[in-house]
Amino acid sequence: MAASTDVWEVMSTARTIRRFTDEPVDDATLTRCLQAASWAPSGANAQEWRFIVLNSPELRAVVAKCAVHALEVIEPVYGMSRPADDDNSRRARSNRATYELHDRAGEHTSVLFAQKRFPTASELLLGGSIFPAMQNFLLAARAQGLGACLTSWASYGGEALMREVVGIPDDWLLAGHVVVGWPRGGHGPVRRRPLADVVRLNHFSSTA
Ligand SMILES: Cc1cc2nc3c(=O)[nH]c(=O)nc-3n(C[C@H](O)[C@H](O)[C@H](O)COP(=O)(O)O)c2cc1C
Repeated sequence: MAASTDVWEVMSTARTIRRFTDEPVDDATLTRCLQAASWAPSGANAQEWRFIVLNSPELRAVVAKCAVHALEVIEPVYGMSRPADDDNSRRARSNRATYELHDRAGEHTSVLFAQKRFPTASELLLGGSIFPAMQNFLLAARAQGLGACLTSWASYGGEALMREVVGIPDDWLLAGHVVVGWPRGGHGPVRRRPLADVVRLNHFSSTA
């Protein structure tokens, strides 16, 4: 699916993209994503966030190492293994894309989202001040036809690596990391649980 400015189409088709063409992401497209991120809300409008573009060869090499760490964690958790060449099931196709993303991690531009700690706020509350920026970034990517994948590569064994090479101060959290690129294949409708499964009326256990 191509670029779209229809907010409903954008939100409902901002599916994770893990396979990219070799075409580099141009500065203007990436800047629009970063601009959209900066329009997000944050507690007290503090905007104590940094969106760090990682695109130098040195940083890409570190990102690739972080992806290896993440894959080691993800594989057993999700029961993932590399699919056989002739396996064309949905799961195999999904796993193949995930392996491709992680195997080719060093080829892509990505953005690291950092959030300043405040002693009064829990990490979850601090996350609430930067996750909207990440979602704005993802929607702006989708609106422009750009593909993106949120990753956990700045967690697990990758966190220390990224902190060191990017120079993240100790009082800043690494909130997330997003890989971007031009999709090989298209965007498509997200698959989510029906609304009735997740919406409750006045009480957690209501059936309405
Ligand atoms: C906090 C977080 C961490 C994620 N980490 C990874 C990751 O390390 N590798 C990956 O391939 N996808 C990762 N994802 C993408 C999710 O798998 C994806 O958003 C989810 O399966 C929904 O798929 P969809 O976006 O295609 O609808 C992550 C998503 C979130 C929200």
